[in-house]
Amino acid sequence: MRIPEEKIEEVRNAIDIVEYVGRFVKLKKRGKNYLGVCPFHNEKTPSFNVSADKQMYYCFGCHRGGDVIKFVMEWEKLAYPEAIELLAERSGIQIGHTDRDAGESNEIEQLYNACRFAGRYYYANLQHAEGKFALDYFHARGFTDKTITTFGLGYSMRAWEALLAKAKEEGITPDHLAKVGLLRTRDDGSHYDAFRGRTMFPIFSATGKVIAFGARKIYDDDTVPGKYINSPETVIYKKSKVLYGLSQSKEAIRESDAVILVEGYADLISVYQAGVKNIVASSGTALTDEQIKLLARYTKNVIFVYDADSAGSAAMVRGIDLILEQNLDVRIVPLPAGEDPDSYVKANGGDAFRTLVSNAQSFIEFKASTFKREGKFDSPEGRAEAVRALVQTIAKVADPLKQSFFIRDVAEKFKLYESSLYTELEKYSKKVPEKFRAPMPVPVVPSEAPGARMEVSQMQELMTEEKELLNALFEDPETMVHFIFGQIQMDEFISTVGKEVALRIIEAHEHEGRVDARALHAAAKDETIRTTIADCSFNRYQLSAKWDTIGHRSSDTRLYEQALGAIKSLKRRNIDTAIAANRRTMKDAQLQGLDVLSLLQRENELYRQKQVVEEMQLVIEKK
Ligand code: CTP
Ligand code: MN
Repeated sequence: MRIPEEKIEEVRNAIDIVEYVGRFVKLKKRGKNYLGVCPFHNEKTPSFNVSADKQMYYCFGCHRGGDVIKFVMEWEKLAYPEAIELLAERSGIQIGHTDRDAGESNEIEQLYNACRFAGRYYYANLQHAEGKFALDYFHARGFTDKTITTFGLGYSMRAWEALLAKAKEEGITPDHLAKVGLLRTRDDGSHYDAFRGRTMFPIFSATGKVIAFGARKIYDDDTVPGKYINSPETVIYKKSKVLYGLSQSKEAIRESDAVILVEGYADLISVYQAGVKNIVASSGTALTDEQIKLLARYTKNVIFVYDADSAGSAAMVRGIDLILEQNLDVRIVPLPAGEDPDSYVKANGGDAFRTLVSNAQSFIEFKASTFKREGKFDSPEGRAEAVRALVQTIAKVADPLKQSFFIRDVAEKFKLYESSLYTELEKYSKKVPEKFRAPMPVPVVPSEAPGARMEVSQMQELMTEEKELLNALFEDPETMVHFIFGQIQMDEFISTVGKEVALRIIEAHEHEGRVDARALHAAAKDETIRTTIADCSFNRYQLSAKWDTIGHRSSDTRLYEQALGAIKSLKRRNIDTAIAANRRTMKDAQLQGLDVLSLLQRENELYRQKQVVEEMQLVIEKK
């Protein structure tokens, strides 16, 4: 869904960057600007500047900067449109979603309102005479009052219409409470409370809004089935997109650059209370792609600590594949039999838990030991099955380099030849690609920063990425010329020799309809060019040794992945170089007291381009 440009402008104009940033960063007026300690890197002397007239920020320490939208993106770890939505919401601007009119958006506000009201009400009930039992229950579980407040825990009264009565008192429409699943509707249209006599665990959105509840049974005479009852899916609660605890833990996840994934509400709360705060819970549902994407905003390192039972183990096995598919790293902590994170941390404390986490296994170790426990290693058939299962998972790893490390691991562990594993791997690689394209418009680094380009283009030595590209071009010129040069321009090659060889390949392809490495090699006079051609096509023969066993090369996505990886990496390098050059200019400008605004804007633009590059991925189109 695209947000119209004029709306973005409206949002930008509605918010004063000094006021907004000032909520998170202590700012002092210094001359025309405001100065504070940078929230994005560690520093003692403030170098974080905010300009009221330019409506931009810039840190001279870590060189982050931009407008208020960029600030929200970095601070809240949101994508561009989400940052705009957040700002729009805070400034009361209606973003013209075509499929969501103003009335509906207002309605959504009301639903959030209803949830917030209920959360406060349940929380307050803990101080009520009837709520004493629930409060004691929490205390008996070891939850402190501070923890109860942090997670907004509460209690729903046993009466049928307690929430309803309170809602009427406070002017909250029952209809809204019904829409978020907190009230049920009788046949005659009257309402009653959905949750009665249970401890309440509010579920928050990543930005900290109450959107749903989990309700845990505490009374023996509670006949409603289910230890937990959870809110149904509603307009504001999409289970597959929510992770329990994220709003409380996101800072810690960001700081530690890792996230611990547990199953239960109680697990999360106990571990968090024990001081290990970089944690979220999948809340008993199978992990989804959307949840993983959500996590990927904060870190690429996921550590599973699921219950030590077969359900927990099976859930991890499924989760591992999903995480690897999304190019995140995953490790696993096996708990002692019969334990869950809650019981473990209660018995052994936070430090012991931390040690356990730091000794997490790779997914290969984890899967191998699972198979071993199942007795798979006792027969040759079982062993083959186990290896096959491991290779299937490795096939999900997007990065071919990582893939090769994992293959080596398995080869060593099972005393097998890597080549036979590659053969196996090939069977599970993606289906025959009909056509590939990069879905994103690909930015070309503008040549505005002259210093930058001069420096790099004088460099003779071939870059690794260039080598990968040339190798792909020699390997399968038919498809690769089209694929590679559809996404990268000649001058994005960095070394002169890389550029030169690429040019010769294109020429041969265009004029002769084929690319013959040997012929090109023979025709080249320059020694560097000759060795480069040899080098890049020699690689090919190394590869084909194992690729030959695989069959048709055109059925392979690995070449595309190799090429795309190299393309992204080259673009990244070029943009980084441009950013560095821009910063140097900016420093000079700063020293000479010149206006840095346009340079800032350029930097902003370069970061945006980098973002676009990061998002490039293979799309497989089927006919
Ligand atoms: N769950 C659920 N409904 C159930 C059981 C479990 O929704 N009937 C979800 C809850 O989100 C729960 C998670 O699955 O937190 C994991 O289940 P479990 O390990 O049993 O829950 P704990 O949080 O450990 O619960 P407790 O310690 O309170 O028994
Ligand atoms: Mn538990």
